[in-house]
Amino acid sequence: MAPHPLSSAQQQSVEQLLETMTLSEKIGQMTQPEKNSVKPGDVTRLSLGSVLSGGGGNPDPNTPQSWREMVGAFHEEAQQSRLGIPLLYGVDAVHGHNNVVGATVFPHNIGLGATRDADLVRRIGRATALEVAATDVRWDFAPAVSVPQDVRWGRTYEGYSQDTGVVSELAAALIEGFRGDGWATPTSVLPSVKHFIADAATTWGTSRRADRSTLATDRTLAIAQMGQSFVELLDLGAWQIDQGNSEIDEATLRAVHLPPYQAAIEAGALNVMVSYSSWQGLKMHAQHYLLTEVLKGELGFAGFVVSDWEAIDQIHPGDYDRCVVDAINAGLDMVMVPFDYERFIASLGRAVQSGQVSESRIDDAVRRILTAKVALGLFEHPRTDPALLNLVGCAEHRTLAREAVQKSLVLLKNVGDVLPLDPAGPELLVAGEAADDLGAQCGGWTISWMGGHGPVTPGTTLLEGLQAAGGQVHFSPDGVVDRDYPVGVVVLAEAPYAEGMGDRSDLSLSADQVALLERVRARCTRLVVVLLSGRPLIITEQLPQWDALVAAWLPGTEGQGVADVLYGERPFTGKLSFDWPHSHADLPRRPEATLLFPLGAGLTTDADSIRFPGLQDNAKV
Ligand code: BGC
Ligand code: BGC
Repeated sequence: MAPHPLSSAQQQSVEQLLETMTLSEKIGQMTQPEKNSVKPGDVTRLSLGSVLSGGGGNPDPNTPQSWREMVGAFHEEAQQSRLGIPLLYGVDAVHGHNNVVGATVFPHNIGLGATRDADLVRRIGRATALEVAATDVRWDFAPAVSVPQDVRWGRTYEGYSQDTGVVSELAAALIEGFRGDGWATPTSVLPSVKHFIADAATTWGTSRRADRSTLATDRTLAIAQMGQSFVELLDLGAWQIDQGNSEIDEATLRAVHLPPYQAAIEAGALNVMVSYSSWQGLKMHAQHYLLTEVLKGELGFAGFVVSDWEAIDQIHPGDYDRCVVDAINAGLDMVMVPFDYERFIASLGRAVQSGQVSESRIDDAVRRILTAKVALGLFEHPRTDPALLNLVGCAEHRTLAREAVQKSLVLLKNVGDVLPLDPAGPELLVAGEAADDLGAQCGGWTISWMGGHGPVTPGTTLLEGLQAAGGQVHFSPDGVVDRDYPVGVVVLAEAPYAEGMGDRSDLSLSADQVALLERVRARCTRLVVVLLSGRPLIITEQLPQWDALVAAWLPGTEGQGVADVLYGERPFTGKLSFDWPHSHADLPRRPEATLLFPLGAGLTTDADSIRFPGLQDNAKV
């Protein structure tokens, strides 16, 4: 059990503050609206404890400076409330401060898992915390400590690995980076360890998020209504597994999914976010046993538990009062409402008045929230230093991201040592729009919730990286060329997605991608394929045609990191952090499944012999 985060004097100050608070002020602290829903003056009037930016909850214009002004205005409102309790502003900085145009975007966690490099992840945690703090934000909804078991899940890339030990180690390292020189220092950032628990163990087909019956009450989907493309995504499998039901037994839940929370708490995490999913048929947001008995009791978690976005609404669709009562009694301390916060406040007020929620439960919730605020030193310095703005997207952080990209690449096939390429060699054919698509290489949770295509933020595409490395490159987006080349590099990408919008029943390459591969194959003696994806894809049929395969995941803004390794300036060292399935029949993951490549696979080039590494051809393919 982790020691209490506060000194006894600090604990006393929390008790004293609690005694001076009215019930409304307490409920205000437990309420978290999204910034686009908050009416001016309401943070002061209702003593709101927190505000968040959802994915894409950006100011206009989207600059680091205007982020700071936007967040600062909420802090000022909090300071004007009767008790002046500082506000916690929360963001999803899940691969760098990814909503902010100009911030450094690091590889998504699946790529960091392939590095197996805890020290690197610690440094990324520190750099991310500095960029987040620069915008006056001290709370980050990361790390996801999901342990994905079915790569059809749209959130696979948010997980470091299918392996519990890898997840625990890297999550703890990120949290240490968030802490920096101490939680009470003004550049620490409170992690939100998510999504408690077994979010990544749900069964395909059990998600109810996009059911006709629930759509009517779901404001997120109504607002995000993606028209025809949404309908098409539903056909491909959107919201089939994300937010679904996990049927695993308790022993598996404890062995596979609980240890990362333990590691995170030991590293000092004082916030946990609850999963949208269910366990054995009951929504996690209503799981008293797991939230209160296991997390707060057994693990001795002294921090606070926050709900996910509009998630309590799913406990009893259509009966909000019952949702509120069950969630708070299960152990939720703060609710990410995110829209109609006055409805939440009124509902919880009624529940306390009628005795359905006890005052001691409210006190416990507020005590936990105040504990985190005191631990972060917010009462002494509710604001951060504006000079930090210079660090957003700075050269040092971009160099770190480039290092992360280099280390995240996994070389899965290399017949006849086609890689590394010789920068002084003949002209290289690079094909595929994805080679020059910064949005695609960043993936979801980049500037907007779903991410996008093209130059969404400053950065370097793979193509620009290859060009900058000095080699001669001919770029053909569609692979239609009028002569032959000794080596072709085809870059294929999944279109960006987030959450259940990325659930897919079919992980095969598209017909367009296969056609592109065939065109380039016909024009090149040797074919190198670079995959930009949030998970392993089904490539068994095409792989024999390729001389080399590099899994590059979702590398982020620093595309030179890929060129560094393709040209042999740096060695390949990444190892798969997931099994690579042979076919769809091998999903979800299970011991008897056939694998194209197992967890841990990855050819390595030795730093001293990069040019002629003498690699063995991958025997199986
Ligand atoms: C996601 C969380 C995220 C939250 C706030 C939810 O939809 O599940 O991971 O932290 O939104 O953006
Ligand atoms: C996400 C938010 C996002 C919103 C879009 C939520 O589920 O978590 O981050 O902005 O949907 O409507």
